[in-house]
Amino acid sequence: MFVNKHKDLIVQKYSADDEDERLVRDRSHNLEYLTTMRYIQKFVKPGAKILEIGAATGRYSIALAKMGYNVTAVDLTPKYVEVMKRKARKLKNFQCMVADALDLSMFKDKTFDMVLNLGPMYHLFNEKDKKQAVKETLRVAKKGAVCMFAYISHASMITNYGLRHDMVYNVFSEMDETGRVRDIPEDIFMSFYVEDFKKLFNRTKSKYITNVATDGIAPMMPDWIDRLSKKAYDAFVKWHFMTCERPDQQGYSSHLLYICKKQ
Ligand SMILES: C[S@@+](CC[C@H](N)C(=O)[O-])C[C@H]1O[C@@H](n2cnc3c(N)ncnc32)[C@H](O)[C@@H]1O
Repeated sequence: MFVNKHKDLIVQKYSADDEDERLVRDRSHNLEYLTTMRYIQKFVKPGAKILEIGAATGRYSIALAKMGYNVTAVDLTPKYVEVMKRKARKLKNFQCMVADALDLSMFKDKTFDMVLNLGPMYHLFNEKDKKQAVKETLRVAKKGAVCMFAYISHASMITNYGLRHDMVYNVFSEMDETGRVRDIPEDIFMSFYVEDFKKLFNRTKSKYITNVATDGIAPMMPDWIDRLSKKAYDAFVKWHFMTCERPDQQGYSSHLLYICKKQ
C-alpha cells in the first residue's frame, strides 16, 4: 500500500523544493517541458477538458488553461496547490485541488478528454500502487481520450545520479541479474525499465501510441547544452524532436512519456 509515511515524505520533500522553477532552470530541464508540451499539443482537441495529476505549481496546467482548454489540476502537495490557486486566480477555465493519484474518486468515470499523469509514477514503489495509478488515470478518461504518463528511466539513475554524484559504488552495490539497481524509497524516486513500464498497461482498456524521451541526452550534459550558441541549440532541439520516439534515445533520457489512448 501507499502508506502514509511514504506519502508524508513525498509531501515533505516537495514542500522544501522549488518545483515551480525546475522546468525553466536551464535548457536541459526546459527541453522536458518543450517536448511534453509538443506532444500534448499534438494530441489535444480544441475545447478539450484536461486533467493533470501531479501538476505541482501548474507549469503545464496553467499554460494549457491560458490556451483556452478547460483544465483541472491536482497534486498531493498542498503548498503547490496554493501556489496554483494564486497564479491562476483570474482564469475561469481552471480549477485545482489536493488529490492523490491513487484515489481520484472526486471525478466520475469518463470525465476528461485528455489525462496527464505527470509526476506520481516517479514515487510509487509497489506494483499494486503503480497499477492503481494507471487504473485511476484511465478510469477518469473518456473513451478515445489520450492519456500521458511521465516516468523516470532506470538507466538515468546510473548516469544522472550514480555517476554524477560519485555514488556509483552505492548504486551498483545492490544490483540484480538484469543490471537493475535498487530504487531507494528514502530518496522518494522510483525508476523503470521501459519494458516494465509498458507491462503496467497489460489488460487495461488502452492502446499504446508511443513512448517519448522527453529530455533525451540533455540531462547528461546540461552545461554543454547551456553553452551552445542559439543556432546550435536550435539545431539540437530540432534533432531531439526528430529522434525522441526512437528506441535508441530512450534509456538515458531522465524522463520518459508513455502515451496511449483509452479504449
Ligand atoms: C516532479 S513533480 C512534476 C510536476 C509537473 N507535473 C512537471 O512535470 O513538472 C511531481 C509532482 O507529483 C506530485 N505527486 C507525487 N505523488 C503524487 C500522488 N500520488 N498524487 C498526486 N500527486 C503526486 C508531487 O507533489 C509533485 O508536485
